[in-house]
Amino acid sequence: MFSRIGIIGAGAMGRGIAQLFATAGQQVWLYDTRGEAVAEALKFNRDLLQRSVAKGRLTPAALEQTVARMQPAAELKELADCDLLIEAVVERLEVKQALFVELEGLVGEDTVLATNTSSLSVTQIASACRRPERVAGFHFFNPVPLMKLVEVVRGERTDPSVIERLVTLAEHAGHFPATTPDTPGFLVNHAGRAYGTEAQRIVSEGIATPEQVDRILRDGPGFKMGPFELFDLTGLDISHAVMESVHDQFYYDPRYTPSYLAAQRVAAGLLGRKSGQGYYRYENGQQLRSLEPAVPQGTIERPFWLGNIDPQLRARLRAVLDRCGAVLEEGDEPSDRAICIITPFGEDASQAIERLALPADRTLAYDLFSDFDKRRVLMRQPALEPALEAQACQAFAADGVPVEVINDSPGFVSQRVVASIVNLGCEILQKGIAAPTTLDRAIELALGYPKGPLAFAQHYGPLNILDILQGMQACYGGEPRYRPSPWLRRRVQLAVPLDTPDAGRH
Ligand code: NAI
Repeated sequence: MFSRIGIIGAGAMGRGIAQLFATAGQQVWLYDTRGEAVAEALKFNRDLLQRSVAKGRLTPAALEQTVARMQPAAELKELADCDLLIEAVVERLEVKQALFVELEGLVGEDTVLATNTSSLSVTQIASACRRPERVAGFHFFNPVPLMKLVEVVRGERTDPSVIERLVTLAEHAGHFPATTPDTPGFLVNHAGRAYGTEAQRIVSEGIATPEQVDRILRDGPGFKMGPFELFDLTGLDISHAVMESVHDQFYYDPRYTPSYLAAQRVAAGLLGRKSGQGYYRYENGQQLRSLEPAVPQGTIERPFWLGNIDPQLRARLRAVLDRCGAVLEEGDEPSDRAICIITPFGEDASQAIERLALPADRTLAYDLFSDFDKRRVLMRQPALEPALEAQACQAFAADGVPVEVINDSPGFVSQRVVASIVNLGCEILQKGIAAPTTLDRAIELALGYPKGPLAFAQHYGPLNILDILQGMQACYGGEPRYRPSPWLRRRVQLAVPLDTPDAGRH
C-alpha cells in the first residue's frame, strides 16, 4: 500500500481526501498554490474532528494523532518522496496536464499520480506524462469522509498494479472502490443521467408538473429527493452542464439528450437554492411547496370496471375502491355506465384504449408502480370526460391517500423513470463500465437512490421493465432513446438473473 500521500489542491475535495487518509492512519501532506488555502483546510479538518470529539465518536488523543498526520507543504518539491500524489486542483485539462508534467520531474519512478477529476478524461491528462501507466483516476465525492464511494479509473495506459494499489488503499480507508474504465462520466455520473433527464422529458411533454413528478417519485419508487428538488440543490447550471457534457461525449446518443427547457432556465438564472428560485422558490433557505389540489366532493354515481389484471393486484385495488365507497363491477366487459380503469406497462392510455376497444370518454389508467397506500397515480387521456375524471379521482382519494392525475404518457412517471434507470444501468454493464457486483452498490452510495438499477429491476420484475421500454419505444414511433439494452433483453429472454455476467468479462 502507500505510506506517504501528497495532496495537491486544498479546496473542498483536497481537504476531505486529506482527512480521510489521515483518519485511516496514513501520513498526508497538503499543498496549494494559494498560500492560506492549506492552513484553512487544516483548520477546517480540525474543527470537523472536534465535532466528532464533542459527540463522543472520537477521543481527544485520537484527534491530536489524526491532526498530526496532516502536514502542510509550502512547496511542491516537499512532496518529492511521496509514493502517491492525488491532485484536486481546478477542473481544467491544461492545468492538470502541466501539474502532472511538473510532478513527474520531482518524484521517483514508481510514484503513482492520481487525479480527482470528475469530468475530464484520465487518459488525456495522462497523455502529457512520460509514464502514463502510473496515472489513474481516483474520483471521490463530496463530502469525502461521508461519501463512502471512490471511483478508481483505469486510463487506456494505466498499469493494472496501480489500480490494485489504489483499490487496497481505498478499502483500508473504509471506502468502496468502484473500478471503472475511462469513459464519459465514469460510472456514477453516467448512471445518474437517467433520473433527471427522463424527468425533464416528462415535464417538457406537459405530462406532469415538476412538483408532481417529485411527489410521485418520492412516494412511489421511494427516492429521498425528487429530480427537480435535486436540480435545485445541485444548481441547474451544474447539472445541465454535466448532461450536455455526457451527451456530447457519447456523440449525441439520444439516451442522454438533455432538455431545451433546462437550457432556457439556466439562461434565465433559475438555478435553484443558490439563486433563490429554481423549480421551487426559497425563502430563508426553506423550499416553498404548492398546496396539493383538493379532492373533488360529491357522490360517486358510477361503478368501476377493471381491465385484465393479476388477481392479487385486482384484490388490492378492489380493497382501495371498497374503502373509498366505490363499486367494482365483475363482468369481463364494462357495463354502459362503468368508469374503466386500465393498468398498462409502457403503453400510454390512448394506445391501450384503442387496442382493448374501450370507451375513451370513461377510461383512465392507474399506475401499478405507485404505492397504493401512499400516493395513487391516475392518467387521463384527451377524450376523457372531465366529470368522470373527477369521480375517479374521488373514488381513489376518499380514504385520505393523495391522488395525482397526470396527462397521457407511455409509462406514466415512475415506470418510465425507473425503466430508464434500469436500462442505463444495463448499458453500463454491457459496455463493461461496471461489473454487476459493483453497479448497485456504487449508485446507492453515491447517488442515494433507494435501490440500484438491478435491485429496481428485481423489485418490479425484469420482464415488466422490458415491456415498459418496448412500449415506450413503440409509442414514440421507435425512438432510439428508449431502445432496450441488449443486456436486459437477452437476460429476460433467456430467463437468467440480470446480474449474470457475459463469459470472459469481469
Ligand atoms: P476548489 O475550488 O474547492 O479547490 C481547488 C483548489 O486547488 C483551490 O484551493 C486552488 O487554490 C487550488 N489550485 C488551483 N490550481 C492549482 C495548482 N495548479 N496547484 C495547486 N493548487 C491549485 O475545488 P474542488 O471542489 O475541491 O475540486 C477540485 C477537483 O475535484 C476538481 O477537479 C473537481 O472537478 C473535482 N471534484 C469536485 C467535486 C465537488 O463536489 N466539489 C466532486 C468530485 C470531484
